Amino acid sequence: MHTPLLFLSLLSIGAGAVPTYGLGTTSGWDSAYTKAQTALAKLSQDEKAGIVTGMTWEGGPCVGNTYAANSIGYPSLCLQDSPLGIRFANPVTAFPAGINAGATWDRSLLYARGAAMGAEAKGLGVHVQLGPVAGPLGKNPDGGRNWEGFSVDPYLSGVGMEETIRGMQNSGVQACAKHWLGNEQEVYRDTISSNMADRETHELYVWPFMNAVRADVASVMCSYNKVNGTWACESDELLNELMKNELGFRGYIMSDWNAQHTGVNSALAGLDMTMPGSDFNTPRGSIFWGSNLVEAVSNGSVPQSRLDNMVTRILAAWYLVDQDQGYPEVAFSSWNGGKAKVNVTAGHASVARAVARDSIILLKNEGKILPLGRPGSLAIIGQDAIVNPGGPNACSDRGCDNGTLAMGWGSGTADFPYLVGPLEAIQKQADQHGTKIVTSTTDDFTAGAQAAAAAETAIVFINADSGEGYITVEGNAGDRNNLDPWHNGNTLVQSVAAANKNVIVVVHSVGPVILETILAQPSVKGIIWAGLPGQESGNALTDILFGTTSPSGKLPYTIARQRADYGAGWINAQSDPFSEGIFVDYRHFDEQGIEPRYEFGYGLSYTRFNHTGLSVSVFTTSGPAVGSVVSGGPVELFEPVGSITVQLVNSGSVEGAEVAQLYIGLPDSAPPSPPKQLRGFQKVKLQPGQAGTATFELTRRDISYWDTPTQKWVVPGGTFKVYVGASSRDIRQQGSFVVGKY
Ligand code: NOJ
Repeated sequence: MHTPLLFLSLLSIGAGAVPTYGLGTTSGWDSAYTKAQTALAKLSQDEKAGIVTGMTWEGGPCVGNTYAANSIGYPSLCLQDSPLGIRFANPVTAFPAGINAGATWDRSLLYARGAAMGAEAKGLGVHVQLGPVAGPLGKNPDGGRNWEGFSVDPYLSGVGMEETIRGMQNSGVQACAKHWLGNEQEVYRDTISSNMADRETHELYVWPFMNAVRADVASVMCSYNKVNGTWACESDELLNELMKNELGFRGYIMSDWNAQHTGVNSALAGLDMTMPGSDFNTPRGSIFWGSNLVEAVSNGSVPQSRLDNMVTRILAAWYLVDQDQGYPEVAFSSWNGGKAKVNVTAGHASVARAVARDSIILLKNEGKILPLGRPGSLAIIGQDAIVNPGGPNACSDRGCDNGTLAMGWGSGTADFPYLVGPLEAIQKQADQHGTKIVTSTTDDFTAGAQAAAAAETAIVFINADSGEGYITVEGNAGDRNNLDPWHNGNTLVQSVAAANKNVIVVVHSVGPVILETILAQPSVKGIIWAGLPGQESGNALTDILFGTTSPSGKLPYTIARQRADYGAGWINAQSDPFSEGIFVDYRHFDEQGIEPRYEFGYGLSYTRFNHTGLSVSVFTTSGPAVGSVVSGGPVELFEPVGSITVQLVNSGSVEGAEVAQLYIGLPDSAPPSPPKQLRGFQKVKLQPGQAGTATFELTRRDISYWDTPTQKWVVPGGTFKVYVGASSRDIRQQGSFVVGKY
C-alpha cells in the first residue's frame, strides 16, 4: 500500500482546490497591505524597531525571534529552519531533501511535501519556515548545500520553489526563499565575492526566485556572500532594484544569520529584518538595529518611510497567510531538546515515503536484474545499509557520515523521528518471500566479499555526504573534496564484484558521484540512485527493489565521467568569477560536446514509453516583455504564448510513470545560448498499453533570453527548436516554431 488516504487527501488539496495564495495573484497582497497599513498607524517607534529586529541567537524558542507588538496583537515571530522539516523539534517528519523532491519531477508531490511541512510548522507555532532553497542553485557539483535545493536547472528549481511555497503557505506558514544570491559554495561563504555577469544572474540564479515571488512567497533571505564586491544583505542593486523593483516582491527580506554588516546601509539597501538580531562576532549583543535603528531614524540617517516600509512588508506577509487569526502558540524550544507539546506528524510519513520512492532513479539495469522478484538469498553489504548504531540523530545537525545517509548536514536538517534503514526494510520483505539474508554491515572489503560469495545477488550500499560549512566531516568543510563515494566505496564495490556476478549498487548521495570504477566491474548489473530519502528510506527503496512500484525519478543534474568535465567547482579563493557563465551542468556538456555518463533528466523504468505525435502551437511576436510589474516581473513575461503536446504510450508490461521533458533551443538571432534548455515537463502515470498526453504550456519567459543592453527579457525572432524526450539527450520528438518580428 503506497498511497494511504491522507496522502490522497493532501494531493487533492494540491490538484483540486483553488490555492489561497495562488500563482501571481496580487489581490491577496492588496488586502494584506491594507490591513498592515491600518496596523502600522497604531505602532510606537519602539514596537516598529522590535518587529524588524531579532532577539539574538537563543533569545527565544526558535532560531529566529522578533519582538511582539502588543498594541496590535502581533506576536513574537518564530522563524525556524529547515527546508526539509522543522529543525530542533520532535517529533516531526524528516522529509526527503529538496534534491529528492526535485528528482521526482512531480508537481503534485512537490506541493504535497510543501503542504505537509507547512502543516507541521503551523502546528508547532512556527510563523516562518526557512525554506525552500534555490541558492545554491548547484553550479558547482561539489557545493556542500546543493542538496537543500531542487535542481541545478533553473526551470526545475523554479517549479520546485513554486509548488513548495504554495503548499507551505496554503497550510498557513510563511515560506522563505533562500539564499539570495550567488551563495554557491561553503568555503569562504562569509567573505567570498560571487562575481556574476548580468545574463547568467538572470537566466540561471534569479529565475527560480521569480517563481517564488510569483507564488507570493512571504519572505526572502539574503545570503552571506558578496555579489560583485557588495555584501548581498547590503546591496541596493540586489535588494531594492532586483528583488523589489524588477521582480515586484511585496514581502520582506531578512538577513541570513549575521549576514548584516551595517545598520544604516543595510536599511537603505532594502533589508527589512535582521536575523538573529545581534552580531556574534563583535561583542555579542552589540546590535545594528533595535534602538540603534530608532536613533538612525531620529537623526535622519534612515527615513521614517523606510522603517515604516519594513514593518508594513513584515505585517503584510503575516496577514497574507492569515496568521492574525488564531495562530497556534510556539509549542517547542530549540534549546532544550526540542520536545514538542503536540504531535504534528499526522500521516505525513506517507508523503515522505511517496517522495522518497518516486525520486529513486534507476541508472543501470542490465539483464533486468531489477526488480528482484523472490531471490533465494541476498547479501546486504556496507555501513550505508544500516542506521547509525548510535541512533539516526547521534551527530548534531547530522554532522557525521555513520550509517545510512538520509540527509546532508547543517541547518538544513531536522531530527529523525525514526529512520527506516535499508537492511531493516529488505529483511521484512525477505521474511515474507523466504529469502535468506546474509549481511556485512561495515565497509570492510574482505567481510563484504565474504558475504557476497554466500548469496545469489549482492546489494552494496555506498554514499557521499556534504553540508553546511560550520561543521567539517571527514575533512570536508561543507563542500565535498571530491566526487567519489566516501569510505572507499569504489574498493568495496570492486571486492564485492569479484565475489559475486550479480551485484546491485545503491547510492545515497548529496549530488553526483563519479561511477566509472563501479561501471568497470562487469558484475555490477544494477545501479540505483536513492539520493537523500529522509525517514522512509528503507521502505521507499524496497518499493523499487521488489517492483511494487516502477522507478520514475530522473536526474536533477548530470553525472559526469570525470570531475573536470563539469567545468565548475568550488574554489579556494575570495572571489569566484563565475567563468562558466550561462553554461552550467548540461548546458555546458551540450555546448562543449562532452559525453556525460548519465545525462540530466535521465532515469530508467521497469516499463517502456513511446513518445509520438508532437504537436507545436506557439504564436507570438519577438521583442521585449514590457508592462506593469506583477509578482515575478513584467506582466507580459507570464503571458501564455502557446503549448506543445506529445502522446505517450506505456508499451511495456507494468504500470509506470514517464517524465516527458521539453527542451527549447533559441534561434540564431539570440546571443550565443545553450543548445537546449528545459522549458517544460510533465509526469504521466500509465498502465500497460495505456496512452496519455503530456502538455507543456509556454509563457513568454520560457522563450526569452535576458538582454543585457536593454535590461529586458526578450523573445528573439527566428526559428526555435523543440525537443521532447525522456531525458536531455534521449530526444524522441523534434519540431520547431517560428517567431516573427512585431
Ligand atoms: C545559516 C544558514 O545559511 C541559513 O540557511 C539558516 O536558515 C540560518 N543559518 C539559521 O539557522
